[in-house]
Amino acid sequence: MDKTYEWLMRAARAIRENEELLTDLDRAIGDGDHGANMVRGMDAALEKSEKADNKLGAAGMAIMSVTGGAAGSLYGSALYEASKHLSIIEDIEDIKLLCSIMLQRIKALGGAEAGDKTIVDVLEPFTNALNDGKGFGEALSIAEKALRMTKDMVAKRGRASYLGERSAGTIDPGAYSIYLMLKSFEDLI
Ligand SMILES: Nc1ncnc2c1ncn2[C@@H]1O[C@H](COP(=O)(O)OP(=O)(O)OP(=O)(O)O)[C@@H](O)[C@H]1O
Ligand SMILES: [Mg+2]
Repeated sequence: MDKTYEWLMRAARAIRENEELLTDLDRAIGDGDHGANMVRGMDAALEKSEKADNKLGAAGMAIMSVTGGAAGSLYGSALYEASKHLSIIEDIEDIKLLCSIMLQRIKALGGAEAGDKTIVDVLEPFTNALNDGKGFGEALSIAEKALRMTKDMVAKRGRASYLGERSAGTIDPGAYSIYLMLKSFEDLI
């Protein structure tokens, strides 16, 4: 059964529940808009995808059009790209494909590699774990460890990179938001 919209709803709820935390993390190493950007993006994604046939495509387009930040355009574009190859999410193979396409798109657009203290630092190990045949639970616990590891990293991309060494000591906000989105698949499929 198609779980795409339910996933988007859960992800939007998780983002809303953690808006303040995302704001605080981005206030520490960026400009403090990641919580608001993500809430605005996910609310638009829900509204535009509810009645759309291609829910991932509508969500991606909506996120791109309402969010100003770097993360918004990366998430929006990544979801939109995935929607060209994946019409619905109903099993672990779909999650694997979704994440593989999103990872590829985010790396191509933003140029980040593992270790740069971005979304990639959580999405890549999670995707690699699934592609290596690990189950969802194990991949999610790898993602959670990877999230915590962004704390000690020095940012090489985005606004946080302007701080140089001072960007170390705070978990990356984008790494946190992608973790919330991945965790939203838990008990769904
Ligand atoms: N080139 C990139 N590749 C992947 N992720 C990135 C890149 N640049 C920024 N990010 C992610 O975006 C998050 C910040 O998103 P936000 O919504 O605050 O946009 P922003 O204020 O325009 O950010 P920034 O100025 O850091 O690019 C960072 O924590 C990081 O995870
Ligand atoms: Mg910001």
